Amino acid sequence: MTAFSDDFLFGCATSAYQIEGGIENDWEQWARDGRLGPRAPCGRATDHWNRYEEDFDRLVELGAGAYRFSVEWARVEPEPGRYDEDAIQRYVEMVDALRTRGVEPFVTLLHFTHPTWFHERCPWHDLGGEAPERFGAFARRMAEAFGERVRFYTVLNEPNVWIEGAYVAGLIPPRTKSLQAAGAAMAGLLAGHAKAAAALRSVVPGVQIGVAHNHVRFEPSRGAHPFDRVARHYVEHFHNRVFLEGLTTGRLRFGHIPGLRMAHDVPEAVGTLDFVGVNYYARVFVEARLSGFEVFYEDRAGRGVTDLGWEVHPEGLTLALTEAGRHGLPVYVTENGLDDRDDSRRSAYLYDHLQAVLAARRAGTDVRGYFFWSLVDNFEWLEGFVPSFGLYAVDRDTLERTPTNAAELFRTIAKSRRLPEARPAQQTRPGDGRTPVG
Ligand code: FCB
Repeated sequence: MTAFSDDFLFGCATSAYQIEGGIENDWEQWARDGRLGPRAPCGRATDHWNRYEEDFDRLVELGAGAYRFSVEWARVEPEPGRYDEDAIQRYVEMVDALRTRGVEPFVTLLHFTHPTWFHERCPWHDLGGEAPERFGAFARRMAEAFGERVRFYTVLNEPNVWIEGAYVAGLIPPRTKSLQAAGAAMAGLLAGHAKAAAALRSVVPGVQIGVAHNHVRFEPSRGAHPFDRVARHYVEHFHNRVFLEGLTTGRLRFGHIPGLRMAHDVPEAVGTLDFVGVNYYARVFVEARLSGFEVFYEDRAGRGVTDLGWEVHPEGLTLALTEAGRHGLPVYVTENGLDDRDDSRRSAYLYDHLQAVLAARRAGTDVRGYFFWSLVDNFEWLEGFVPSFGLYAVDRDTLERTPTNAAELFRTIAKSRRLPEARPAQQTRPGDGRTPVG
């Protein structure tokens, strides 16, 4: 199989806070307090809130048939129970603008950021608290507004990554460094996903519900070293499996690491998924230390690294898709892309990762779509506007968008539904030692 079927979806992905501008949420508040240094806060981002029509024209230019974006909860419900009808209306207009252009919307309801009132009032780790209920009510509100115009929801974006940032590292809001709380928050998010799924299904019969789950290719740093293998097993299990298994089985289980024994049952999550979304970026090595372990990127295959130092490793995408396919549900690549500031490697990256998608399809995984991260350059969580992930570069002063080399390739592939014979001849950026993860 060298071609993509006619119903395979080619799209781009973004998230509200990273591109819209003018959002007051927990992250903006945290960043304004100076915690992220001079690169933050996000402020006007790329002003997509006002420029969405022209950005959606770019999707048409790219030949994209789908677009994954998020609705900002903080905009929609700025105070508990008070919904902003103008904001909801704007999102409805966005959905209409997509549909008019023949682009299928995939809507994310929680992409890392929360309303400013959320963590104090009902944090996810507050077992028995009102977070799942509130999130479900927000989902219902959006489903009522969108109706049948939105048929695909990736309800949660990377719950695993968010939990690690908020509770394992204790870095991002609510900045609660506690492994017990991490487990409780996972259970809360599972319950929230289940409430949202029930609400979406009751409002829009036949709606397709998924998750955008981050998947990393973990390998032991020193091949056969037994401690590295054990450490890799723990890390991989925690990152790649625990939450996804929770979604499909209703059982959150993690018993390996002292202090992080997790056993929560959320039976209402069973049966809530119609597809699995995989966000895939890179391979990561795990090396045991006397106390704990080190996780890092390193250019070990000579394919180079991205400008954030992430190793380029397309084979890992095939493996991630194959693993996601084991749940017996259709699979989408809901994010894949790279930080490429001088526009010298994006085409080759895109080509190689689409080849990896074809390999997974050949091996029998039901992969139905591929979303490139991202449509336009945007605010990257900890690095601000320095990285460049967009198929369209954004000038930071004028906010003018310019197509990168890969935009043309994306269009060629999306239109012809096959990869060109010749792989783009591009440079690789050799890695320079280890880059710690996070
Ligand atoms: C993913 C996030 C996305 C973006 C990319 C680079 O982990 O979901 O918002 O920041 O990484």
